[in-house]
Amino acid sequence: MIPEFCQEKRIVGLVFFFTRSDMLTIKNRTLATPLLLAPMAGLTHSALRTLLLSCGGVGLLSTEMLSARRLPMENSKISPYLVRTEDENPLSYQLLVTDSKEIAPALEALHKFSADFVDLNFGCPAPRVRKAGGGISLMSYPVRVREIIRTARRGTNLPLSARIRLGERLDEAWLRDFCLMLQDEGLDMLTVHARLRGESFCRKPRWGWVGKVKQWLKIPVVANGGIFSVEDAARCLAESRADGLMLGRAAAQRPWLFAEIAREIYNIDVPNTGINLPRLYAQFALGLTRFRPERRLGRLKEFTHYFALNYPFGHHLAMGVQKSTTPVGAWQQAVDFFSTTDPDGLNMVETQAVAAALAG
Ligand SMILES: Cc1cc2nc3c(=O)[nH]c(=O)nc-3n(C[C@H](O)[C@H](O)[C@H](O)COP(=O)(O)O)c2cc1C
Repeated sequence: MIPEFCQEKRIVGLVFFFTRSDMLTIKNRTLATPLLLAPMAGLTHSALRTLLLSCGGVGLLSTEMLSARRLPMENSKISPYLVRTEDENPLSYQLLVTDSKEIAPALEALHKFSADFVDLNFGCPAPRVRKAGGGISLMSYPVRVREIIRTARRGTNLPLSARIRLGERLDEAWLRDFCLMLQDEGLDMLTVHARLRGESFCRKPRWGWVGKVKQWLKIPVVANGGIFSVEDAARCLAESRADGLMLGRAAAQRPWLFAEIAREIYNIDVPNTGINLPRLYAQFALGLTRFRPERRLGRLKEFTHYFALNYPFGHHLAMGVQKSTTPVGAWQQAVDFFSTTDPDGLNMVETQAVAAALAG
C-alpha cells in the first residue's frame, strides 16, 4: 500500500515514488528543489543565474570556480565572478584551493559577500588547474585534502560541500576511503561527477558509481554529469539513487530543464513560463549589462556556444556571435539569426532595448 503523500511517477519505464522527505537538506538548509547548478567557469555568473531563476526549478545556484588565493583581493561590486543581485539565492561559492593556508582569508571574504554555501573543487581536470596543484590533482593527495576540509570546517558554519570525479581509475576501496574521509572531516554534502579524471564529456557517465558513494555515506550525495533531459534525470536517479541532481552544460543550453525535472520527476509545482528561445537569449544578454562593457562579449560567446544547440542550424548563430568584435555586433548577429529561423522572434522594441543596454 503506497502512503497517500507518495506520488507515483513513470518515466522511461522507470517508476519513482517521491515523498516530502525527498527534499534535500544540506546541514541546516532545505532546498526548494533537489536540483543544483554546476559551477562552470565563464558560464555560471549573474546573467545565467538570473535567467535560470526566471525559468524556475533550480534549488541551489553556484558561482564559477573562484581562486581562493585571489578572492580576498576581489571587489565584489565589479568583479564579474562576484556580481550578484539580491534575487540570486541560495548561492554556493566554489573555491579553487591549492593549499590549506588559502582557506581562512578566502572564507573571510565569502562571509563578507554573504555566501549561502561553500563548495570545494576537487574535481576540475583542466591542465592549467592541475598544474597549479588544484582541482582533481588534489584527489591524489588525501592528506592535503583532509587538511583543507578540516581548515574549512573550522573556519565556517555555512553548509560545506565538495565536488569530485571518480578518481584516476576505478578503485572502489580507494574511493570509499576517500569519500569517508571527506565525510569524517565534516563535509555536509558531496557531488560526484560520474567520470574518471581522463574521461571526456562524450563518454557515458558512470551513474552507478554515484550509487556506490551514496551507499557508503550518510551525508547527501548529488549526481552530476550528462543530464540533458527529464529522461536522463530519471535514468540517473534510477542508477544512483542520489539525493539530488546537478546540471552543468544543460543549464546554458536548456535553462528551463530544472523546472521540467522538478515538475515531472519530483512533483514540485513550478509554474510553466513557456519556452521562447529569442526572449531567453535577450534576457541573458540584458543580464550581461551588470558587467563592465569589456566583460560582456566573451560571456555572450560562451553562452551562445551551448544555447545555439537548440537550433538545427545553430552553428550559424554560434559562428556569427563568435566572429563579432563587440557585444552589440554579436547581438545583431543573433537578431538576424532569430528573424530568419524562429517565428517567436523578438519585436523591434525589444531588439533595440537590448542593443542600447549592451552599448551602454
Ligand atoms: C565550460 C565549463 C566550465 C566548467 N567549470 C567548472 C568549474 O569552475 N568548477 C567545477 O567544479 N567544474 C567545472 N566544470 C565541470 C561541470 O561543473 C560539470 O561537472 C560538467 O560539465 C559535467 O556536468 P554536465 O554534463 O551536466 O555538463 C565546467 C564544465 C564546463 C563545460
